[in-house]
Amino acid sequence: MRNINEDTITPAVLERMAECPNPRLKEIMSALVRHMHDFAREVKLTEAEWAEGIGFLTATGQKCTDKRQEFILLSDTLGLSMLVVALNHAKSAQATEATVFGPFHVPGAPELALGDDISGGARGEPLFVNATVRGRDGEPVSNAQVDVWEADAEGFYDVQRAGLDWPQGRAVFRTDSEGRLWFRGVLPVAYPIPTDGPVGVMLKATKRHPWRPAHVHFMIQAPGYETLITHVFRGDDAYLDSDAVFGVRSSLIGNFESHPGGVAPDGSVQARPFHTLAFDFVLEPSPT
Ligand code: BEZ
Ligand code: FE
Repeated sequence: MRNINEDTITPAVLERMAECPNPRLKEIMSALVRHMHDFAREVKLTEAEWAEGIGFLTATGQKCTDKRQEFILLSDTLGLSMLVVALNHAKSAQATEATVFGPFHVPGAPELALGDDISGGARGEPLFVNATVRGRDGEPVSNAQVDVWEADAEGFYDVQRAGLDWPQGRAVFRTDSEGRLWFRGVLPVAYPIPTDGPVGVMLKATKRHPWRPAHVHFMIQAPGYETLITHVFRGDDAYLDSDAVFGVRSSLIGNFESHPGGVAPDGSVQARPFHTLAFDFVLEPSPT
């Protein structure tokens, strides 16, 4: 195979993978090669531009640590994460819609008792969350594992705060026998995704803002049901229609209510404003 040109290079590479023993890998790699080659032909990619592209991807990898995942951020901001979610969670009309996972979930967060405060001292106005987890036929899902995580009033997750060595704004709960879940956190606010890395450079160069509308993250796992990874958004946020990572679904706007103070849902008397959120999650059964 010699004298390959801009048209024959694609079949030549595909042919080289003809013996790939894993059919799915072969399908994915072949499509990737075809689309990458088509992309380079379409834009007539120059050598300098491709060197810049490789430099960008290298910097993206170099920005990653155990607390910072720049590749997830890149996938999110290019809409690829949300596309993959949409392709894999075409659910029944009743089931709660999924959205992006994002880079700020931490496995192994502390398991707290229902009603506990997840804030760990994080700044923010108190938020009392009251939720239910049900199946598609309305059956309560008891003992579901619910991971929750949120940013503080300054828009930072605990893992973004250098030197903080305890969890803030994250916990794991188990639903009670009636599928109920309640806890205390802080009112989420809109925040910019991290812009101090290559993704920030890309956003700036393409004149995009980095803001995400205010939300609380949930991951709900229970035997017999598909794992649900989603957020609940505030309905009054200015960024609902321009989320930097394309994650907003109208069905995920929660019932947030503000209260001037007084008796909160946990029976405490709040001298300052507090907020409540009610949301009912519906899980899809696992595929059989
Ligand atoms: C988040 O909501 O935590 C998030 C999602 C995607 C990118 C950055 C942050
Ligand atoms: Fe978030």
